Amino acid sequence: MTPTAPDIVVTRRPPGDVLARLADAGTLYVWEDDRPMPPELLRQQLAAASGLYCMLTDPIDAALLDAAPSLRVVSTMAVGVDNIDLAACTARRIPVGHTPGVLTETTADLAFALLLAAARRIVEGVDYVRAGRWQRWEPDALPGHDVHGTVLGIIGLGRIGRAVARRAAGFGMTVWYHSRSPHPDVESDLGVVRKSLDTLLAGSDHVVVTVALTDETRHIIDADALATMKPTATLVNVSRGGTVDQEALRVALERGEIAAAGLDVTDPEPIDHRDPLLRLPNCVVIPHIGSSSWATRVAMADLAGANLLAGLAGEQLPACANPEVYG
Ligand code: GLV
Ligand code: GLV
Repeated sequence: MTPTAPDIVVTRRPPGDVLARLADAGTLYVWEDDRPMPPELLRQQLAAASGLYCMLTDPIDAALLDAAPSLRVVSTMAVGVDNIDLAACTARRIPVGHTPGVLTETTADLAFALLLAAARRIVEGVDYVRAGRWQRWEPDALPGHDVHGTVLGIIGLGRIGRAVARRAAGFGMTVWYHSRSPHPDVESDLGVVRKSLDTLLAGSDHVVVTVALTDETRHIIDADALATMKPTATLVNVSRGGTVDQEALRVALERGEIAAAGLDVTDPEPIDHRDPLLRLPNCVVIPHIGSSSWATRVAMADLAGANLLAGLAGEQLPACANPEVYG
C-alpha cells in the first residue's frame, strides 16, 4: 500500500518502460502481483485518483466509478472493452482509452496459427510424437482438413477480421464475412463477400470469429450455428469467449458436428483445467495470447500510456473507445 492516495492506479505491471513516463505525471500505485488486482483494493486505491491504467481482467463498472469521484481517464491495455461499462464512463464524462491497430497483425497471425493447428491436427501430432507412438511413417496418420483453397467465413470484419482476410488470400481461400453493416470498400480491396450468418456458416469450410463481444454477439455461435456448419469445418475464436456457447461447442465437437476448434479465448477465463473441453483431441485451447508477441505487448502498453497521459492532460485520447464523450 502506498502511504498517500495515488494519482494514477496501475492494476498490473505493463511491459516496457511506460511506467517511467506515467510517474512523471503523478504518484503511482502499481499492483505488483501476478494475479488481477483485488476489486476491493482497486476501489480503495481509486478514492482520489485521476487516472486508471487497467487490464482486460479488471471489471470497471458504475459502482467502481462512483467510488472514484476524481477519475478523469480510464485506459485499458487491450483493444476489447467488454470489461468496461462504457456508458457509465461516458455518463461521467470519462474517456476510455484502448489499443486498436497495434495488435491487429499479431492477432491475425495467431488466428491463422490456430486455424492451421486445429485443421491439420498439429497438437495431436505433437502429443503423438511425445508419447512415443511415432514408430513408422503411416499412410493414414492424423489426416486433417485442408486450409488452402477453401472457403473461410469471418465473423466481424473489423481490423483483425480484415487482417485475417489478407492472410487468407495467400492461401488461395475464398473469403466470406458476416457483419452488421456492409464494408463495400473492403469488399473491393480484398475481394471478400458479405453473407448472412446462416449462409456463411453453412457454406464455409472454416469459420473465424473476430467480432467484439456485445449483447448482440454473445453466443453468436450457439448450438444451432454449430449444427449449421460443415462436419469438416474448423471453428476459431480470437475475440472473446462469450461469443461462443462453450457447452454447445463441446457437444458439437464430441458428436462430430464440426471437425475441430481452436480457441484463444474461453468463457470464463481462465478455463478450469479440468473442463471436459480440454480432453477433446480436436480442440486446441490456448491462454488468450492473441496479441502476445514481445513487440506488440510493448506497443499496447505504450499506447495505453499515451491514452492515459492525454486524458490526464485534458487532451483527446489517441485511441478512444467512447468518442461520444467529446460530443
Ligand atoms: C485482447 O484480447 C485485447 O482485447 O487486446
Ligand atoms: C480490432 O482491432 C478489430 O477491430 O477487429
